[in-house]
Amino acid sequence: MRIDVISLFPEFVAQCAAFGVVGRAGERGLLSLHGWNPRDYAEGNYRRVDDRPCGGGPGMVMLIDPLRASLQAARAADPAPARVVYLSPQGVPLTQAKVRELAARERLILLCGRYEGIDERLIQAEVDEEISIGDYVLSGGELAAAVVVDAVARLREGVLGDAESAVQDSFEDGLLDCPHYSRPIEHELGSVPEVLLSGNHAHIAAWRRMQALGRTWQRRPDLLDEASLSKADRKLLAT
Ligand code: ADE
Repeated sequence: MRIDVISLFPEFVAQCAAFGVVGRAGERGLLSLHGWNPRDYAEGNYRRVDDRPCGGGPGMVMLIDPLRASLQAARAADPAPARVVYLSPQGVPLTQAKVRELAARERLILLCGRYEGIDERLIQAEVDEEISIGDYVLSGGELAAAVVVDAVARLREGVLGDAESAVQDSFEDGLLDCPHYSRPIEHELGSVPEVLLSGNHAHIAAWRRMQALGRTWQRRPDLLDEASLSKADRKLLAT
């Protein structure tokens, strides 16, 4: 998969993607990440990439032309069609379902804004979708782009080994994850729940499901409306 990042700080996103399984995916050629800096495409001695907002008000707005030229350069670097995603607090919330959808594509271009954002005309003309990573405002889209790169890359074939399989992740079935334990079995902070030591796989699976349901019900009841629940799950939640 190829991901191009258009940003005033493309190295930031590259650094975020340089570690752990995602870093290894880069080394193994499963993910190729490319940065494009609109400043390199800005005109004039000052290489200006922003200007004051029309109508007044605080902050600056990123200019159309340096961004558009960066986008053109990124598109031209590879003939495969790319989905252009703009990271902004005005976007649709990023969910695991959305991550899965993006991970199914061969090419993404992530557009990062700074300051008050980017000129709306560029968004209308060039952006396929606008995504937010949460209801808070970051100083730029780079952290959000790094989040997208990480979440997407780990779903690509071959990135996670069996041991790290994404199938059991939180949210893959619409629920929060169950708690996890390791050695030592006895510790001054507590003991590992007995069922996990029983060797009975059916009991362990049932316990984990119950924990996942219980936690979701307690912490994120909103998720239960969308989760795929069995009859047994529903019965459990009703008690
Ligand atoms: N840029 C600034 N804040 C953001 C957010 N919450 N999500 C995505 N991009 C952003």
